[in-house]
Amino acid sequence: MKKLIAGNWKMNGSLAANEALIKGLLAGATTPWNCNVALCVPSVYLSQVVALTQGSPIAVGAQDVSQHESGAFTGEQSAVMLRDLGVRYAIVGHSERRQYHGETDVVVAHKAQRALASGITPIVCVGETLAEREAGVTEEVVKRQLAAVIHVNGHCISEIVVAYEPVWAIGTGKTASPEQAQAVHAVLRAQLHAASAQSARVPLLYGGSMNAANAAQLLAQPDIDGGLVGGASLKAADFLSIIAAAS
Ligand code: PGA
Repeated sequence: MKKLIAGNWKMNGSLAANEALIKGLLAGATTPWNCNVALCVPSVYLSQVVALTQGSPIAVGAQDVSQHESGAFTGEQSAVMLRDLGVRYAIVGHSERRQYHGETDVVVAHKAQRALASGITPIVCVGETLAEREAGVTEEVVKRQLAAVIHVNGHCISEIVVAYEPVWAIGTGKTASPEQAQAVHAVLRAQLHAASAQSARVPLLYGGSMNAANAAQLLAQPDIDGGLVGGASLKAADFLSIIAAAS
């Protein structure tokens, strides 16, 4: 399976900076990438980034999607709208959404369902906090988070992407060791396999301070199928190094 490297710009960018970054990435693609690449960008820039990446190997993703189909939900974007723009992926259940916007496991599961119904691949984020890791409940937490998504999405579950993002590793410069990440990925793989044989092939991304220096080692783990990259996706050279490590 080709690896998937997805950038998560979070709330960063400007028209000028986005254009420079994408031009830098495309200029750096001198040999064809042997991995899938996506950029998950702020919703206001989706149209711009779709236009800039047209005909290129870069797919575009949103950072969130509404759990509702349409209607009186001020400020939200529906999966149908995202699809309309040419968006391929949507991150759902990022820990920042869970933490600052009160998204529960059930809400995240319904967001994944909306995305799937519109032909958008949800990148479902799971991960434990530092307190949960220290309490020894990492497995329990990630399994609970994924179970909600499996429960709501049934046989469609083989169409999702899962990102394991330990909350303590996000934006902190503290990466999970390849062994720590692999251990959790193996748990998630087994859980998906138990849901259906096909789901065992769901791509499992690692996220949390992945960078040019540590990507190769993480991506070499048997159950790490790619990365969800925050800070390092904002610099063309760094993101290109990660893409190279995945190719
Ligand atoms: P980071 O963010 O790479 O900056 O740690 C990853 C993420 O939150 O998706």
